[in-house]
Amino acid sequence: MKLVIIANRIPLTIRGTDPLIFVRSPGGLVSGIDAFIKKANISDWVWIGWVGSRVKKRDLEKIRSTLIQESNCIPIYIPEKLLDKFYNGFSNKTLWPLFHNMPDLATYKQDEWQSYQEVNKLFFRALIDNVEVDKDTYIWIHDYHLMLLPSMVREFYPDAKIGFFLHIPFPPPETFAQLPWKRETLEGLLGADVIGFHTYEYTTNFLRSLSRVLGIEHSMGELVYNSRIIKADTFPMGIDVDKFNVKDDEIEEQVLSIKQVLHYKKIIFSVDRLDYTKGIYNRLLAYEDLLKRREDFRNNVVLILNIVPSREGVEHYQRMKRQIEEKIAEINGYFGSVEWVPILYHYKSLPVNELIAHYRACDVILITPIKDGMNLVAKEFVASRQDLKGVLILSEFAGAAKELGEALIVNPNSIEELSKAIEAALDMPEDEQSFRLKAMQERLRRYDILRWGNDFISSVKEISSKREILKTK
Ligand code: F6P
Repeated sequence: MKLVIIANRIPLTIRGTDPLIFVRSPGGLVSGIDAFIKKANISDWVWIGWVGSRVKKRDLEKIRSTLIQESNCIPIYIPEKLLDKFYNGFSNKTLWPLFHNMPDLATYKQDEWQSYQEVNKLFFRALIDNVEVDKDTYIWIHDYHLMLLPSMVREFYPDAKIGFFLHIPFPPPETFAQLPWKRETLEGLLGADVIGFHTYEYTTNFLRSLSRVLGIEHSMGELVYNSRIIKADTFPMGIDVDKFNVKDDEIEEQVLSIKQVLHYKKIIFSVDRLDYTKGIYNRLLAYEDLLKRREDFRNNVVLILNIVPSREGVEHYQRMKRQIEEKIAEINGYFGSVEWVPILYHYKSLPVNELIAHYRACDVILITPIKDGMNLVAKEFVASRQDLKGVLILSEFAGAAKELGEALIVNPNSIEELSKAIEAALDMPEDEQSFRLKAMQERLRRYDILRWGNDFISSVKEISSKREILKTK
C-alpha cells in the first residue's frame, strides 16, 4: 500500500531559509497523522502540503529538495496574492467560524472563495505532478481547507481510492445552509469514497445537509452519487498512548522542578492554540470567580495558562489576544502579591516533553472550548498520568467528551458551573481521581491512533471494492 496524505500543512513549518530551519507544525492533525504513519509502520508514504509560512519562490527549490529527501514531504508554494485570501480569509474567516457554529463571526467574500478554489487546484496539481497513483494508492485528504479536492482528484482518477477526514465539527444543516457555496462544497467532498468525522453528531449533521442541499438520501451512512457508493462515518481520532505514557527521567525531573518552583501549590493547567472557539476568556472569568468565593485558595493555587500563537493575521484572533491579556493583568493585579502570582501566562508552543511534564505536574487541567472538533489535549493529559492523579475538566462541546465521560463535564458558557467544577476538582479525593482516570485510560488504549487510521483505511478499501463490484454488474 502507498499512502498519500494531503493536508493544508506538512508536519514541518519553515522558520528560516538561510540556513533552512524547520519546527514542528502545530495542531492535532499533524501529530495524529504523523503518529499513525509511524505506528502502522507504513514505509511507502508521502505528505503534500503548505510549508506553514510565507516563503520566497526563489527559495522553494532548496526547501523542496530538502523536504523530499529528508522528510517525505512535498511542499506546495501558495503565491502571496492567494495565501491571505485562502488561509486567513475563506478557511479561517468563513469556514472556521461557520463550522464551529458561530455564524455571526463568518464573512462571505467572493474573491476569498475564488482563492480557495484556486488553492485547491494547486494541491491537485501537486498530486498529479509528483505522485504515481495506482490501484494500491490511498489518497487521504484532510480538513476544511481542502474540501473541493476530492472531486478534482476523482475526475482525474475515476478509480482511485480516496478518503477525506474532517478534523473540525460539521455544523447543523441550518448553519451550513448559510454558506453561499454550500452545493459546491458538498459536491467537492463527494469525490471521496469515505468521508470521516470525529463524532456521530457531525456525521449526522453532514448527512442531513446532503439531504437538504442536494436531496441525497442515505442508508446507514451509505449513499449513491454519480453511480458511485460513498460512505459517511464516524472515526473518533485517538492518540499514541505510549508517547504520553512514557517513562522518562528527564520528564520526571521537569515535573519536580515545576512543583518546587511553585512551592508545591496546587496547579491548574490550561493549554490551547489562541482561538475564540477555545473558551479561554470564560475560563479566566471562572478562575476569578473562584478566587473571589474561596479566599482559602488565594496564595495556594496557581493557574499556568499556556497559549500557543495561532492565525495571527486574522483580526478576531488579535482582538481575542488583547482581551485575554487584559483579563490576566486584571486578575494578577487585583489578587497578586509579592509572594504569589495567580496566573503564569506563556504565549508560545511547548516542546512535547515539557508539555508532558506540565500534564504530570498539574492537579487540574481545564479544557473548556465553546466548540471543538475533538481536542486531543484532553486525551494526552489522561494518557500521561501514570500516577492516576489529577482531574480533567472538559467541555461538553469538545468531541472528546463523547469518550471521556468520567471527566468533570461542564458547559463552558456558565461561569458559575466552571468555577464550581474547578472547586470540586481541587477538592476531589485521590481515590476518586484514580477511579476516573483509570476508566478513561483503558478506553484510550482500546481506540488509539493506530486503530483510528486502520479503521479509516479499511473503510476506504471496503467502499472502493464495492464500487468495483457495482461497475462489473
Ligand atoms: O484542528 C483544525 C486545524 O486547522 C488543524 O488543521 C490544525 O491541526 C490546527 O487546527 C492548527 O491550525 P492552523 O493550521 O491554522 O495553525
